[in-house]
Amino acid sequence: MEEAKGPAPRETRSPGSCRVRGFWVSLVSLLLLPQLDGSRMPYDFSLVQPLVTLEQLLWVSGKQTGNVDTFRIPLISATPRGTLLAFAEARKMSSSDKGAKFIAMRRSTDGGATWSPTSFIVDDGDVPDGLNLGAVVGDVETGTMFLFYSLCAHYDGCSVASTMLVWSKDDGITWSPPRNLSVDIGTEMFAPGPGSGIQKRHEPYKGRLIVCGHGTLERDGVSCLLSDDKGASWRYGGRISGIPYGELKKPNDFSPDECQPYELPDGSVVINTRNQNNYHCHCRIILRSYDACETLKLQDVTFDKQLIDPVVAAGAATTSSGLVFFSNPAHPEDRVNLTIRWSFSNGTSWWKDTIQLWPGPSGYSSLTVLEGAQTWGDGTPQIYVLYEKGRNYYFESISLAKISVYGTL
Ligand SMILES: *[C@@H]1O[C@H](CO)[C@@H](O)[C@H](O)[C@H]1NC(C)=O
Ligand SMILES: *[C@@H]1O[C@H](CO)[C@@H](O)[C@H](O)[C@H]1NC(C)=O
Ligand SMILES: *[C@@H]1O[C@H](CO)[C@@H](O)[C@H](O)[C@H]1NC(C)=O
Repeated sequence: MEEAKGPAPRETRSPGSCRVRGFWVSLVSLLLLPQLDGSRMPYDFSLVQPLVTLEQLLWVSGKQTGNVDTFRIPLISATPRGTLLAFAEARKMSSSDKGAKFIAMRRSTDGGATWSPTSFIVDDGDVPDGLNLGAVVGDVETGTMFLFYSLCAHYDGCSVASTMLVWSKDDGITWSPPRNLSVDIGTEMFAPGPGSGIQKRHEPYKGRLIVCGHGTLERDGVSCLLSDDKGASWRYGGRISGIPYGELKKPNDFSPDECQPYELPDGSVVINTRNQNNYHCHCRIILRSYDACETLKLQDVTFDKQLIDPVVAAGAATTSSGLVFFSNPAHPEDRVNLTIRWSFSNGTSWWKDTIQLWPGPSGYSSLTVLEGAQTWGDGTPQIYVLYEKGRNYYFESISLAKISVYGTL
């Protein structure tokens, strides 16, 4: 479906120096231009023309890097200083969600043109049910980056799940030893993201750090961890539970799962969520919170029929001007057709044009924005998409695409 309101046409200026002539030009263009409501949209919306300008593989599975069997679960985030940090699970022995892993990281300080070699910033040893990523979020004032992951999420050969946190105070170069957050928040299984957390840009609770995640298949549902002290302490905010809660679900039961939050210009938070059992549609569940995830309410749950989804973790992010970007394998059954969409209407509808990044096998994806003072080159906003991509299987590699929002090279 096409959006009701498109972006305003590109502004054209007459070089005429005479005020009177300028007046007539304005009057004539006023009469000739279609009267789009779009004229009141933020200025940059008229320039939006997303274009892929670069793509490269950051990780390739099959024991090519560090003898790692499979790289999966891509996360990408821009630091407040404009550095890009890419993370993935480095699954040591097999492609299984369980098993022992490293957290792999690569870093780019030139807007994605070049990347540091892979460093393994966390190592879980040789446990049967090791770490799972994860969500990354930074604090704009201190510049500290936080990375959340879980341990023992599947209770396979272990009996207590833990929510773990590492952080970097030097823009992602070095990372702290792991902190066991379960000491503070309890041991209910919480699988963060996968994707990024957000820091509130607008009231209410401007500056709050928010990281959302989900529970086990029986005790599923979305909940969020909140910090109002720049990441020193964390507590649970609101929760939407699956139905029937505490039981294994049947097909079409309500089971909100992996999720990605983003903030809208009105200060509300949208949590774009995997619809584990295809409740109501083969499409995304949309949760919305008007109090910075202090509460999540059933009355604010909707389904986005335009965002067809094969039950997967998707990417979503907003620019500071309120343009929303979304990435997923756009197919009702299969993980293929990695597609980028954008919305000029706060995610209530999606623009008719899309970018197909990869028609073939593609899985999880994560998005981040570089804009304003963070940018490199000509200073225009850039979107980065990190996604699972392959020829025969979606977990063959993890690829990075750079998208120029204004379509400039
Ligand atoms: C984390 O803390 C919880 C609660 O004290 C504990 O049960 C769990 O074993 C700890 N996990 C790790 C990995 O130390
Ligand atoms: C890929 O997604 C686009 C956008 O939704 C859609 O138009 C196209 O039909 C899809 N292709 C396949 C093979 O599903
Ligand atoms: C998006 O939300 C902002 C803030 O509430 C509002 O000003 C703007 O009109 C909305 N845009 C559309 C197209 O609805």
